[in-house]
Amino acid sequence: MRARRVTTSNEVDRRTAGAVRLKERAVRFRRAVWAYYRMHGRHDLLWRRTTDPYRILVSEMMLQQTQVPRVIPKYRSFIKRFPTVRRLAQASLADVLKEWSGLGYNRRGKFLHDAAKEVVGRYGGRVPQDAPALRALSGVGEYTASAVRAFAFNKRVAMLETNIRTALIHHFHTTEDGPLGKVGDKGLTELMAKIVEVEKRPREFYWALMDYGAHLKASGVRNNIRSKHYAKQSRFEGSLRQVRGEILRQLSNGGPSSAICRGRSSARMREALSGLERDGLIKKEKGKWHIA
Ligand code: ADE
Repeated sequence: MRARRVTTSNEVDRRTAGAVRLKERAVRFRRAVWAYYRMHGRHDLLWRRTTDPYRILVSEMMLQQTQVPRVIPKYRSFIKRFPTVRRLAQASLADVLKEWSGLGYNRRGKFLHDAAKEVVGRYGGRVPQDAPALRALSGVGEYTASAVRAFAFNKRVAMLETNIRTALIHHFHTTEDGPLGKVGDKGLTELMAKIVEVEKRPREFYWALMDYGAHLKASGVRNNIRSKHYAKQSRFEGSLRQVRGEILRQLSNGGPSSAICRGRSSARMREALSGLERDGLIKKEKGKWHIA
């Protein structure tokens, strides 16, 4: 008896992918995403147990450039301290930054605080649903606005972030599609729009897609470098970001502003202080630095 040659699903995928029409590929893509999610979805993430747009906004601001495991405890304590948009709007920036400490990129904390004040001032404390109003809030870019629309309001929006890009490039930009080149967000957004257009449950679909993309990455798929919009995160140790974080930590804990200079070259310290001042995070009064 002749031994049957075992073909891997990858081989089959590769041979047929070029010929399969986009619609069929989209069907398979969707199946892969949902199948992964059913088995391994991160159903217990705290921000997936709410549809409160304020809480969704907090989580998405935190998840930009910060890994899920680091966000979980921070999100929990932040929401405990500021359970509503009004409570956040009423807080001092020092208190907000104290809660933000450990997440990095403190400007995001200030943006979130400003956005909360804007939501209270402009919309009576109700986070708006429409994209232009969301985009007009401090620190809310295209992705964050879409994420709030999808996760809080279950809208069929086309959105991209790092895990979504990984999954889309992996399935739709293979060697069968021609030479592997750079992939732009415009095409990926159009593709995403077609895929999500027919989803009955866009909120869950995006959870599933993010989990699937994260899984591909953890399995060694490193195709994000092919994205035209890929930006490698800079090293934290020894960076200006680190100095800025230390200054804010000390000042928001009420530490004397002289202590922040210890052990730092004054040029570096000046650079960090002037950057923080420019970003509206700190101010100098009577010769001493304070949280703004
Ligand atoms: N679930 C909802 N938004 C998410 C995000 N930005 N990253 C990971 N999981 C999420």
